[in-house]
Amino acid sequence: MTDIHSHILPGVDDGSQSLEESLEMLFMAAESGVETIVATPHCNIPGEYENYVSPEIDGLFMYLKEEARRRGAPIKLLYGMEIFATEDLPELLEKGRARTLNGTKYFLTEFSFGEDPYFCADVLRRCRDKGFIPVIAHPERYVFVQDDPQTAFEWCVSGCALQVNKGSLLGRFGYRAQRTAELLIDHGLAACVASDAHGSVSRTTHMGEIREHLTENLGHEYARLLLRENPSRILAGKELLGYEPIPFI
Ligand SMILES: [Fe+2]
Repeated sequence: MTDIHSHILPGVDDGSQSLEESLEMLFMAAESGVETIVATPHCNIPGEYENYVSPEIDGLFMYLKEEARRRGAPIKLLYGMEIFATEDLPELLEKGRARTLNGTKYFLTEFSFGEDPYFCADVLRRCRDKGFIPVIAHPERYVFVQDDPQTAFEWCVSGCALQVNKGSLLGRFGYRAQRTAELLIDHGLAACVASDAHGSVSRTTHMGEIREHLTENLGHEYARLLLRENPSRILAGKELLGYEPIPFI
């Protein structure tokens, strides 16, 4: 499997708090069948987790990668960020202050939970106009998407990719997030499923349970598309497969 969303860099956000925890998360991912994982620290959350590209954060990524290699973690670690969407998001990407996923044109982004859908549509369009492709983290968790999933359909047909959280499908963020995640998948809107792991105890990097869940409910091929094929394509900057978006209205 390929996991494009994890807070595995130690001590920079609300994810891993130590090198040991990060290594535990890496081994746990590998043991559950993950071959590639992307470190995506929160970036551009004003006054909270800024984490813009800097020698310090790049150095921390290299340090974790080297420690993982030295301790024999059988997993590939790549670099990205989960970039909070503000008015200047397109400029942050253009100037290289925020990192895309593995240096491709795809970038992982999140919104404020109470964001105005018109703002989302506008900022996403301006990013696409500059040649970047948004991968929207956990759309099923936003109340405005739960209330009107057609918003997610419109993101999708305008050229954005949607990343659903494993925890939403497993019911860990409540009924509405679970139901919306299922709806997004039923309507052919999900590009991939990722861990959005925050630690080694809860919201972990373990992907075994979600693979079983998706295989049982959607079959082996579709589970593979969401957990391996499309996330690998994102990290290689390639076109995604299996998109047949069905509108809600
Ligand atoms: Fe996240």
